[in-house]
Amino acid sequence: MQGFIIEGSNRVGGEISVSGSKNAALPIIAGCLLVSGEVILRGCPELSDIYSSARILSCLGCKCTRSGDTLTVNCKEISRDHIPDKLMRLMRSSSLYLGACLGRMGRCTLSYPGGCELGARPIDLHITALEKMGAEIKEEHGVLECSAPSGLHGAQISLSFPSVGATENIMLAAALAKGETVIYNSAREPEIADLAGFLKRCGAQISGEGTSVIRICGVSELYPCEYEIMPDRIVAATYLCTAALAGGGLMVKNTRANELRPVIDLLCEAGCDIYDYDGRIYISRNRPLKAVSTVRTMPYPGFPTDAQPLVTAVLSRAKGVSVVVENIFENRFRLNPELVRMGADIKTEGRIAVIEGTDTLYGARVMASDLRAGAALAAAAASAQGITELGNIEFIDRGYEHLERSLSEIGVKIKRTKI
Ligand code: EPZ
Repeated sequence: MQGFIIEGSNRVGGEISVSGSKNAALPIIAGCLLVSGEVILRGCPELSDIYSSARILSCLGCKCTRSGDTLTVNCKEISRDHIPDKLMRLMRSSSLYLGACLGRMGRCTLSYPGGCELGARPIDLHITALEKMGAEIKEEHGVLECSAPSGLHGAQISLSFPSVGATENIMLAAALAKGETVIYNSAREPEIADLAGFLKRCGAQISGEGTSVIRICGVSELYPCEYEIMPDRIVAATYLCTAALAGGGLMVKNTRANELRPVIDLLCEAGCDIYDYDGRIYISRNRPLKAVSTVRTMPYPGFPTDAQPLVTAVLSRAKGVSVVVENIFENRFRLNPELVRMGADIKTEGRIAVIEGTDTLYGARVMASDLRAGAALAAAAASAQGITELGNIEFIDRGYEHLERSLSEIGVKIKRTKI
């Protein structure tokens, strides 16, 4: 199996630039389906999930080409309205092609999405919302037959939970629908605002993105454009947590600190010094880490669930007792038993983890269970004593561009090899 070999106990140093956001790029690429012409996306990260999105678009008849960090997508010609199960299972965000296909073609056949096993991850909120907009969705043995015989129309939609994916799916479906759609209790994540920014660049009429009420007034056509994808705030958090664990000083470039305040505040409480200016975040940790007040993951602007595994790794070395409550996913502590193999003292009960910080973590043979847990294990290994063998790194490749290259640049001894 492909794995990382990481030799620990090296402080980090130097600087690193953050790539474009996976969780902004994926809905934006789905949004390209709504445009009958060429779209140029700059700052598009080179990730397996991005490649999977290109495969889905190509299967529908679109053309996708990459040059460096620029992805060019042309959905002028659509030849199919069926996405094979094997492509749908590659990632969670394949669910966004429900809204995009209905918005463009008025029909599609697809199946339930795949993605990291963080819990049940149903799409009931997506389906209910699209049905309110005039879609007919029949489910049989996991296959969804979707159509909008009279086209999609605007609707007033109240989400019982501010679901990121459901908000994105509704926006994609509403952009070309007849009339106005209002989403109440919409997700407020920055990636939602980036999708809105892209759709508005194409001519969509959207307001309220970033708040809990988003209004989309459908238009008749969306036009080709160029768009720069926002930086990845969770990749930035990954580098910050690596520096917090390994110690030393690190400059992280191409960041938006205001999108990471809960993570920055937590790392400062744990004993790091952090300064942000002009799109850069400088972090140094030159004293022992200390336990922090309870961490509770919440929808944005609360503490981001995607950074929870990363800060759990940091807290495993923080003197004292820390408590982490995971409120978003029911199964997002699969990192913890792997950290225990490295010498961490973590007791996990349902959605609560109690962490007794330890002075030292030790290299061990550990396995990634999802992309953020995998990155957290790499960060923990960078600060551990001895050699760590980290397996299942294909999970990491879904969300991190050549993580071994980035971590090597800042002083981590890591290499990709068969293990
Ligand atoms: C997006 O997932 C992100 N993925 C996740 O990042 C992120 O953790 C999550 O938002 C929360 O911020 C992408 O953007 C590709 P949700 P999504 O819909 O859209 C429940 C990563 O590491 N729910 O906000 O799936 C759901 O089960 C990934 O990059 C329903 O019950 O998140 C979960 O418990 C991991 N019914 C909660 O809501 C629905 O119809 C949050 O889900 C939809 C969601």
